[in-house]
Amino acid sequence: MTWEDKWRDGKTIGKWLVPDATVEKLARELRADETQRALDLGCGAGRHVVLLARQGYDTYGSDFSQAAVEHCRQWLRREDLSATVMQADMADIRAPDGFFDFIVAFNVIYHTTSASMKEMAVLLRRKLRPGGCLFVTLKSPATWYFGQGQQIEPGTFLRPPKRDRPTKDIPVHFSTEEEADELFSAFRMVSKRHVEHVQPSGKRLARWELTLINQPGATGLQPGLTSGSGLRAEDKVNP
Ligand SMILES: C[S@@+](CC[C@H](N)C(=O)[O-])C[C@H]1O[C@@H](n2cnc3c(N)ncnc32)[C@H](O)[C@@H]1O
Repeated sequence: MTWEDKWRDGKTIGKWLVPDATVEKLARELRADETQRALDLGCGAGRHVVLLARQGYDTYGSDFSQAAVEHCRQWLRREDLSATVMQADMADIRAPDGFFDFIVAFNVIYHTTSASMKEMAVLLRRKLRPGGCLFVTLKSPATWYFGQGQQIEPGTFLRPPKRDRPTKDIPVHFSTEEEADELFSAFRMVSKRHVEHVQPSGKRLARWELTLINQPGATGLQPGLTSGSGLRAEDKVNP
């Protein structure tokens, strides 16, 4: 099964409709500071695109799955909301440099190799305005399936095929805390949390959640740490 199949499956979609509480809180706080333009990278079914649009952001979303993009656009229409949603690889952010005030990349950028993740960190910083905020999650090696499948480089695995596993042909890179710090060392880190969730089966899912500011000259960890655009007209959803 691919992500494309997954996003045509009602059961999967049902699991991805409620916005993450941390994203919700951060979006509310930033909006109160008059943050305007937000991108949800790898938006899936659209829970955070809808959240951002509801909060009044000039909202953009992208995902490489056409099914995900269609679901997200339909959801926006049902709610009478506006946003621009594109089908695109995460490395293909169709916006000028410095365009976004806020970027959310929830459970997305680790679906690649370590070298490409480094390129993603540089790209995300480039697409944010100075002072803009990035919320990003990384897969932690404390996740139950760390080490399973074919290791294609240190920390990156192709998991064995399974009926409902969307990542069978897509690598998953697991980041240690040091790697996470290093990856985003050009940002100012406002918050770093290791979030663990034990499923009813007893299996543990774990991720790093980072809130980062594109601050020129920043050197990563800070004291006080708390735990030509290419946009197309047809991508725009209007009520
Ligand atoms: C775990 S889901 C998370 C979806 C969404 N961020 C959320 O939190 O609801 C991962 C998403 O990343 C997308 N994805 C994976 N690799 C991608 C890539 N190379 N480019 C764009 N999207 C990608 C998948 O289609 C899927 O929608």
